[in-house]
Amino acid sequence: MKLPPPVTMVIFGATGDLARRKLLPALYRLKTLGILPECFNIVGVSAREMSDEAFREFVKDSVEEHSKDVDIKSLYLFVASASFIPMDFNDRDAYRRLRYRLDYIDKLCNHPVKIFYLATPPDYFPRIVRYLHAAGLTHKGNPSRRIIVEKPFGTDLGSAQKLNRLILRYFREEELYRIDHYLGKETVQNILFFRFANGIYEPLWNEKYIDHVQITVAERDGIGGRGRYFEAAGILRDMVQNHVIQLLTLIAMEPPVNLEPSTIRAKKIELLEAIRPIHEKEVDRFCIRGQYGPKIVEGHKIHSYREEGDVNPHSATETFVALKLFVDNWRWAGVPFYLRTGKRLRKRVTELSIFYRDVPHCLFRGLGECPQPNILVLRIQPDEGISFSFNIKEPATTHNIDMVRMDFFYKNSYNVELPLPYERLLYDVMLGDQTLFPHSEEIEKAWRLLDPVSRGWQEAPTPVFPNYEPFSWGPIEADEFIRKDGRVWRNP
Ligand code: BG6
Repeated sequence: MKLPPPVTMVIFGATGDLARRKLLPALYRLKTLGILPECFNIVGVSAREMSDEAFREFVKDSVEEHSKDVDIKSLYLFVASASFIPMDFNDRDAYRRLRYRLDYIDKLCNHPVKIFYLATPPDYFPRIVRYLHAAGLTHKGNPSRRIIVEKPFGTDLGSAQKLNRLILRYFREEELYRIDHYLGKETVQNILFFRFANGIYEPLWNEKYIDHVQITVAERDGIGGRGRYFEAAGILRDMVQNHVIQLLTLIAMEPPVNLEPSTIRAKKIELLEAIRPIHEKEVDRFCIRGQYGPKIVEGHKIHSYREEGDVNPHSATETFVALKLFVDNWRWAGVPFYLRTGKRLRKRVTELSIFYRDVPHCLFRGLGECPQPNILVLRIQPDEGISFSFNIKEPATTHNIDMVRMDFFYKNSYNVELPLPYERLLYDVMLGDQTLFPHSEEIEKAWRLLDPVSRGWQEAPTPVFPNYEPFSWGPIEADEFIRKDGRVWRNP
């Protein structure tokens, strides 16, 4: 793998949860793989009073706690690359101290690429960007300055546009990396490879052969300690606007002519443009929302959403959503895409299922049964892999039809750990490759699609929440929603 140029990564929010659990372990993995540049520095920034030494201890603990294998020597070298600046993000003058530190590293490392990672609550984004600029740390058009922005990118179309405008005042689109960690998952990257590296699927990838598509992103966990954030976001903003929509674009976009980031992004944008808008007034026809209730499991109480910390006891925030979308183009005319995601569902599973049409003529009707349609499943997580279900004659019967599966499991075929999403994404930022980062238009188009849903929900009467049990497959209404179309959810 290519070695990136010298890099200084400034992490705003360096002592937060994201840095501790994801960013620092991912950077450490790159170190162990030998693909961090020779001159690599982390400058941690946060409001905590901390010495360089204490921060290095923090980095070490984070890596040890969240990495599978730790090698003492590479950990020592990795930790040595970290330093810290305590800083109130609202204090404009503090950014000068950051600048001095970066100037100092510049001399040691011969002007490395500077990457500013905003891993703070989003309220800080505008101020940090402005003050970075005021301290002379941004150089629009200079490709050696890059900025990474964590999700959520805005809370609706207006706020996303405003944030885009603000950041694009100081950085070019090519210097702005918006994180959607799903795009860093190996199995998500594989969607395009699977589609376009095989001759046999793509000719059948259209309304003539495909009956419908299901995308399920289910989680067993509740909202954890993120009550305040989730109350404002709900699952629509937390998961659909970004991860689920990104999965949809990859599964449904037209073939790109090459793998250039701009080509792929353009195809995704084109797809987003083709999604039929949902009008506020018809939200109930196309969307079902749910919220989990309480449950006792083996004598242990599982809190309902409304009982979680920092959540309004009468909250109307959704923790589950199912949507039906149509893509109005030649390829997908009339093919429904059913998307669902939720917290506290039966199991943690993300998969994309392609349901093929029935055979045009059932040869076996007279014999008692007709075959089930074929299903192709891309398992994003866990049990990463792909399966294809098809019909055979059940052996030792005269005419029974049986559905069997061909199954590919990464873990059986490869003896490698699948890379962590952040590992790949951070590596790509260092290389300046934007393929796996959504463009501003993708973000805005996703908001444009979902804002009417939020508005429709606000105007509609509050549903009777909670309406699903923890560790179920969501509200009963979601089953009816798809059943009335003559289909059922694939519950893995
Ligand atoms: C995050 C959401 O973006 O993705 C979380 O904010 C969610 O609510 C998480 O739990 C799921 O990610 P993964 O990789 O565990 O499926």
